[in-house]
Amino acid sequence: MSFRFHPGPRDPGTRARRGAFVTRHGRVETPAFMPVGTRASVTGLTPEDVVALGGEIILANTYHLLLRPGPEAMRHFGGVHRFMGWDGPVLTDSGGFQIFSLARDRTVTEQGARFKSYVDSRIHVLTPESSIAMQTAIGSDVMMVLDVCLPSTAPAAEIREAMDRTHRWALRSLAAREDPEQALFAIVQGGLDPALRAESAAFLVQHPFDGFAIGGLAVGDTREERGDVMERTADLLPPDRPRYLMGVGTPADILEAIGRGVDMFDCVLPTTMAWQGTAFTGTGRVRVTRSEYRLSDAPLDPACGCATCRRHSRGYLYHLLKCREPLGPRLLSVHNVHHYLELMRQARAAIEVGRYGAFAQEKLEAIDRHEH
Ligand code: GUN
Ligand code: ZN
Repeated sequence: MSFRFHPGPRDPGTRARRGAFVTRHGRVETPAFMPVGTRASVTGLTPEDVVALGGEIILANTYHLLLRPGPEAMRHFGGVHRFMGWDGPVLTDSGGFQIFSLARDRTVTEQGARFKSYVDSRIHVLTPESSIAMQTAIGSDVMMVLDVCLPSTAPAAEIREAMDRTHRWALRSLAAREDPEQALFAIVQGGLDPALRAESAAFLVQHPFDGFAIGGLAVGDTREERGDVMERTADLLPPDRPRYLMGVGTPADILEAIGRGVDMFDCVLPTTMAWQGTAFTGTGRVRVTRSEYRLSDAPLDPACGCATCRRHSRGYLYHLLKCREPLGPRLLSVHNVHHYLELMRQARAAIEVGRYGAFAQEKLEAIDRHEH
C-alpha cells in the first residue's frame, strides 16, 4: 500500500486544512488543484509545461481513454504515464459522470451501463469491474469508483436509487481492485438532500477507501446549495483521508470549498476558457478578444508572474486569438493554469499561518468587485 495521506495543520478560523498525499509517482501538497488531461493531454500544454507551472497531479478520464485509444493500446504502452510522458501522479475519473453526461443510447442496469461510442458508434459496456480494469490498464495512482451521477435537481426517488446503486457499485469496485498500489476513492452522492448525503457518507466511510469524493454537484445547483451540502458532507468524512470535490470549479468556488475542508479539486475551466479566449485574473475574467484590448500594452494580469504575463501584452494575445494562431490559446492556458496553481499555493501558505479566512475573503472580494 503505497498511498498515504498526511493531514497537516488546520486553519483556526475555518475548516481549511493543509496536508499532503504520497503516491508511487510522488507527493502532492493539499489543498491541490488537478489540471485536467481528459485524453492523456492537458490541452495545449506539454508535461514539461505542467511541471514548470507547479502541477503535481493531473486528472485523466477512463471513459475517453476506453473509447480511444482503448485498453489494448493502454496496456501496449504500459499505462498513461509512459504513453503521455508524464512522470507525476495521475488520478482517473471512473466514467460515471461521462456516461450520464456524454454517452448516447445509454441503458443502465444493476450490472452496469451500456452505451454507444461517440468515436465509432460501437456498443460499450462499463461496469464497476470493467472501469477498475481500465483504470488498472491506465495505471493511474488514484482510481475512482464507478458511480451513478444524476443532476442534483433530479426527482428525490431517483436520487435515492442512484445513491443506493452507487454504494453497491463502490463495494464491487473495492472487490475488483487488482493492484493495492493504486489508491481507490469512493464517491458520496445524494443530491442536495442533507439527510441523503449524510447516509451516503455514513455508508461509504465504513469501508477501506483511501479517500472520499463529493460527487453530483455543479450539475444544475446554485453555489449556495452546493456550499451547504459540501460543508455538511465534508464534516462527515474521516479527517485522516483526503476529500475531493469533483469537477469544481471557478476560483471562487474553490476558495469557498477549501474553507469547508475540501483537499482536492479538478476543473476544465482554466484550459477550456483559454481556448475560448478568456483569462482568469485576480480581478475576475478577461475576454481577451474584446476590441478594447487591440492596442493594449498591459499584461493579462499585472500581479501574475507566469511566462505569458512576463513577456506578452493583451494586444499581442488579442492578435493571436483573432488570427486563430495556436499559440494564442496555449499562452492563455499557461496563464490560466498558473493562475489556479498559484491560488492553491497562496491558499496553502495562508492555512499554514492561520489566516485562511481573511485570505479567501480578500480574494473573493477582489473578484466580486470587478465581476459584478
Ligand atoms: N465529475 C464531476 N462530478 C462527478 C461525479 O459526481 N461523479 C464522477 N464520477 N465524476 C464527476
Ligand atoms: Zn499570467
